[in-house]
Amino acid sequence: MTSRIYLDHAATSAPKPAQVAQRLSRYFLEEGFTAGRGSYARAAEMEREVSVARAALAVLLGAESPVQILFTHSGTESLNLAIQGILGPGDHVVTTILEHNSVLRPLAALSNRGQIDVSYVEPNAAGVIDPQEISRAMRSETKLVCVVHISNVLGTIQPVQEICELAREHGAYSLIDASQSVGHLPIDVKEMGCDLLAAPAHKGLLAPLGTGILYVKPGIENELQPLLFGGTGTKSESPMQPDELPSRYESGSLNVPGIIGLAAALEVVTPEFVVQESARQAKLTEQLIEGLSKIPGLKMYPFNASPTAQAGVVSLSIAQHDPRVIGTILDEHFQIEVRTGFHCAPKTHDWLKTAPLGGTVRISIGHTTTEQNIKTTIAALQEISVSMG
Ligand SMILES: Cc1ncc(COP(=O)(O)O)c(C=O)c1O
Repeated sequence: MTSRIYLDHAATSAPKPAQVAQRLSRYFLEEGFTAGRGSYARAAEMEREVSVARAALAVLLGAESPVQILFTHSGTESLNLAIQGILGPGDHVVTTILEHNSVLRPLAALSNRGQIDVSYVEPNAAGVIDPQEISRAMRSETKLVCVVHISNVLGTIQPVQEICELAREHGAYSLIDASQSVGHLPIDVKEMGCDLLAAPAHKGLLAPLGTGILYVKPGIENELQPLLFGGTGTKSESPMQPDELPSRYESGSLNVPGIIGLAAALEVVTPEFVVQESARQAKLTEQLIEGLSKIPGLKMYPFNASPTAQAGVVSLSIAQHDPRVIGTILDEHFQIEVRTGFHCAPKTHDWLKTAPLGGTVRISIGHTTTEQNIKTTIAALQEISVSMG
């Protein structure tokens, strides 16, 4: 067992539950088949386990039916499928400066080709988007509103339900990037009112890397174009992509080890687990923010967020020191693993004015984080702050 403290859960959750390791060990040693492709019983069993994961996700997210959940290979792929699948020439998009590059870059690519126009909304001083600012940015040709649920730099929770409602009133689709919230906060897609919700499964859902999901509200499939075309294991006699969900969007062999690992993880990540974990992680976040706020020379971002509006992610800097130096000291001298830099969210750092510094030090909490981990981290940063001045 390692005595290192892992505080980079916003990148991926680690370590994964024992159930995931045990299931994958059996898969690799005794199985290794594809799903939905073979005429033998053991391939059908793989397909059944994929369906179990889909059904468990539908329950966890309050989706109308399991087929509304699509499997992808990452949060990035889910966001690309949603963005590239829904937008066409002449469309306008409203998004925010808090977005990850997996939203900013596909939008920039479409915009650079002259196909779409994008408006970027800034948050208030507490790092929260005011839905009225979204409303003000809307145009008659706005097709999509795309907002991150929890900023992966600031940890601030966005008012996504109000934003989805505004989008609907304006006749635009809503896409929520739930990469940092799925598995960390209870989510009900019908209550949220989103049309599309994208997330990795390897973060809060505790599945292996190489897994992502996209929730598609019933009816959106009439508008949403697939990102990939190819073999689906269904209607193979036709060269045309099938219309049915989920196969319309799941071309190519599925990541079976990833998905059956997810099925095993979802035995742990039940709706009750998410309720308990969200309360536990909120307490740890408050403990961290309170402790760090007493350290002279340490700055947290945003400056005046309420600890209760921040979930699991805290960004900081110490004086004018390069965040990479602080990250290395935490790693080498204190065995604490954090992420440093821009966290793939360049516009957030322009807004925070942390770009010249090289970004921030980011601490992110997850299912294995303990109160003692937080105490040790606060003490380490106190020591670093004092010694570096
Ligand atoms: C807010 C946000 N969106 C999207 C992603 C991309 O997810 P993935 O790493 O699974 O592609 C991340 C991952 O860091 C994220 O934090």
